[in-house]
Amino acid sequence: MKPVLELQQVKKNRTGADTRPLFMDVSAQITEPSMIALLGVSGQGKSTLLRMLAALDRIDEGSVRLHDVPQSEMDPKAWRMKVCYVAQQPVMLQGSVEQNLRAVSFLHRIPYEDKLVKQLLPRLGLEHLELGKNAELLSGGEKQRISLLRSLLLRPEVLLLDEVTASLDRGSKELVEQVLQEWHTAEGTTMIWVTHDLEQARQISGQVWFMGEGTLLENSATTTFFDSPATETARNYMQGPASKEQPCLS
Ligand SMILES: Nc1ncnc2c1ncn2[C@@H]1O[C@H](COP(=O)(O)OP(=O)(O)OP(=O)(O)O)[C@@H](O)[C@H]1O
Ligand SMILES: [Mg+2]
Repeated sequence: MKPVLELQQVKKNRTGADTRPLFMDVSAQITEPSMIALLGVSGQGKSTLLRMLAALDRIDEGSVRLHDVPQSEMDPKAWRMKVCYVAQQPVMLQGSVEQNLRAVSFLHRIPYEDKLVKQLLPRLGLEHLELGKNAELLSGGEKQRISLLRSLLLRPEVLLLDEVTASLDRGSKELVEQVLQEWHTAEGTTMIWVTHDLEQARQISGQVWFMGEGTLLENSATTTFFDSPATETARNYMQGPASKEQPCLS
């Protein structure tokens, strides 16, 4: 069977005077619908990689294929319908919440699934939301969930989730996790989920991609990654500054 998604020697250069690549030699193959947690310290290029996978940012070298079709050979709009990025900082279009949700079907000429919207709003903890409300007035956490719902309406094959629960309280976060896990099971959607919440990564993913040292340093089953990471960089990442020896300040 053709892999769902394949990354071959993907490279991203930095902009400006710094000539070191942001990352290079990023290769991975997703052979079946998967839940992948994409981890790594801030600034490693996780969001950049997701944006490249979604054809929103240039791939400087290497290639990305969806079911063996290179991104470079597909119309970007058609690609983005299948490989969909949910941004770390969601952008609402002008207009109401409903207009934001309908924009997807309008743009991609697909039917608007009103029934699905009505089912998912309460499951995402948004039952109180007026669909006629100006979307720009939503809270950060409300925007994140509307942006996520907008992407689900596309029924993409690959969903790229960039810290989509970062602004949410614990209850709302758990609702989103549950919806996404059920969606993955029911629809067979592959999800690559950037998070700094290690407990979340453990719970939602079957595979971990760990970015460090300017590349995809580890690609292993979630239990393997957390129980016995292969590199010191990953071990340090998981320990975090809190467990390192603190200098005496007194
Ligand atoms: N459009 C851009 N132009 C120039 N530099 C950029 C751009 N986008 C990101 N960068 C730089 O690329 C590096 C990686 O950024 P990126 O947002 O991908 O990291 P990240 O791993 O997602 O970090 P975080 O965990 O903080 O979200 C950073 O140094 C950032 O400043
Ligand atoms: Mg990021």
